[in-house]
Amino acid sequence: MNAIANPTTMQPGPAKAASPSSAAFLSVRDIHAYYGESYIVQGVSFEIRHGEILALLGRNGAGKTSTLRAIARLDDPALQAGEIWLDGQPLHQMRAFQAARAGIQLVPEDRRIIQGLTVEENLTLAQVAPGRGWELDRIYGHFPRLAERRRQEGTTLSGGEQQMLAIARALARDLKLLLLDEPYEGLAPVIVHEIEGILNEIKTLGITTIIVEQNAVAALKLADRAVILDTGEVAFTGTAQDVLDNAELRQEYLAI
Ligand SMILES: Nc1ncnc2c1ncn2[C@@H]1O[C@H](COP(=O)(O)OP(=O)(O)O)[C@@H](O)[C@H]1O
Ligand SMILES: [Mg+2]
Repeated sequence: MNAIANPTTMQPGPAKAASPSSAAFLSVRDIHAYYGESYIVQGVSFEIRHGEILALLGRNGAGKTSTLRAIARLDDPALQAGEIWLDGQPLHQMRAFQAARAGIQLVPEDRRIIQGLTVEENLTLAQVAPGRGWELDRIYGHFPRLAERRRQEGTTLSGGEQQMLAIARALARDLKLLLLDEPYEGLAPVIVHEIEGILNEIKTLGITTIIVEQNAVAALKLADRAVILDTGEVAFTGTAQDVLDNAELRQEYLAI
């Protein structure tokens, strides 16, 4: 049952060419994940093409964070069945550190800025990982507020600036798939607007992204496609516009 958590005991996965629907950059196939005995992610499947932004939506407790954590291969929830392929790489056979090396960067809800480090130290530390991403100049070009505060301790930044730093840190690493868990949570509308601008810039750079947001309208404005979860299962898959146009769907699953 736990074979999936230990890559050394796994059989090698099929070769890249054997993975179906080659158009998909990320393919999540019937994944099932548990916190201990609690069965939470109950057979979720979806695909993302390269450069697309997917909004992963649903009510509180629907399983959005758990799905992101399962994709990032964190220990909890434990992935017990299903496959996750990223650009031909079998994430389901990996541990979290391997998934990170494979290009998965999760920006968690609490942002996890490292205490005692300046903005710049947070960024340069992220670049230490093998296969580094953006250089500092490029990061500061997209995040002028971080440039201004480069010598300031990261944990003393405002909530919005910490969110920017968390996103910038993901870009400083070798990034193939950006997972954003509620990037607008707890932020003032003016800051949300600023981060939306940054995410729109990131979008034009073709970085494949999953965005989880309670602010569904903001996520849908940014996203190409949407998946709606309901009690750990996929209730809807379609374009972001489909959701914006479907009042019934929004009311049933998003309460907006
Ligand atoms: N560490 C945990 N242990 C046990 N159950 C959890 C844990 N984290 C979340 N859950 C449960 O999993 C379900 C989905 O939670 P979550 O993925 O956080 O939902 P969402 O992000 O959509 O709000 C909820 O019922 C929640 O109570
Ligand atoms: Mg959540």
